[in-house]
Amino acid sequence: MSLMGSRSRKIGRAVWTVWSGFVVESIIFAASVLPAVLFWAWHFRWPYPSNGVRIFVLALAFVPAYLLFAFGLMVFSALITRLLGWRSPPDTEMRIGDLEWPLLRWTRYMVSQHIVRLFAGAFYRSTPVWSFYLKLDGARLGRGVFVNSLALMDHNLLDFGDYVVIGSDVHLSGHTVEAGVVKTGWVRLGNGVTVGTGSVIGIGVTVGENTQVGALSVVPKHRRLEANATYVGVPVRRIDAPEAAAQTALGPP
Ligand SMILES: CC(C)(COP(=O)(O)OP(=O)(O)OC[C@H]1O[C@@H](n2cnc3c(N)ncnc32)[C@H](O)[C@@H]1OP(=O)(O)O)[C@@H](O)C(=O)NCCC(=O)NCCS
Repeated sequence: MSLMGSRSRKIGRAVWTVWSGFVVESIIFAASVLPAVLFWAWHFRWPYPSNGVRIFVLALAFVPAYLLFAFGLMVFSALITRLLGWRSPPDTEMRIGDLEWPLLRWTRYMVSQHIVRLFAGAFYRSTPVWSFYLKLDGARLGRGVFVNSLALMDHNLLDFGDYVVIGSDVHLSGHTVEAGVVKTGWVRLGNGVTVGTGSVIGIGVTVGENTQVGALSVVPKHRRLEANATYVGVPVRRIDAPEAAAQTALGPP
């Protein structure tokens, strides 16, 4: 009986999550697309000299209208998920099969980030607008941060200093899934850190100031990389100082 009860509670939570996610995302989309719809309504009432001009103006407005929609999506998604408390819980473990509320809130946060990167990311990544979105969505970013990757998730668990550069296709998020459990942790990058193209940064990683992580490298979870250093490889090893490289070979401190 209690097993049945627990199962039906799980189903209830899952159904609520899908339904509420759908409703909230529909509202976010509606708010984002509103300026374009208003333009559309105005456009069809405006007395153009000919139908050809009307069609040309519509074609001309298409790209700016999409960019405006994509910008609105970033802003409304970040603000509304913040208002609803859909965030990644720090330093925790959540069993997927339990379908508890923290996992479900986290899921809706991930879905909202995924939708934004799908509809807006291709246009705004690596620009200050993308950094603005990441901040609005919960990330702590310093000045002059450039993120040329759409594979940064769990924004509220990211803490980057000034002038951090994230190369294209870097995978860096505040969660990992292992044996059916979602594990979370902060990722902290000091001032001036560069993460090379295609690298993978695990949860709980801390990188000291001005350190470079080479292209296609893997920094395993919970590793601390020293400041003013260069690390490369899978898993990373320090290459800029022979004595430090020897230490790395012995394992993390
Ligand atoms: C890591 C990096 C910064 C090192 O540059 P560097 O200090 O000039 O080092 P070098 O090119 O002299 O290479 C030193 C050694 O490391 C090796 N190495 C360099 N980058 C490596 C990488 N990504 N993976 C594995 N080995 C690497 C080199 O083969 C060389 O080995 P060797 O001494 O046995 O010949 C650079 O190679 C790199 O990967 N940059 C990535 C830049 C990037 O993606 N930026 C993102 C924004 S575009």
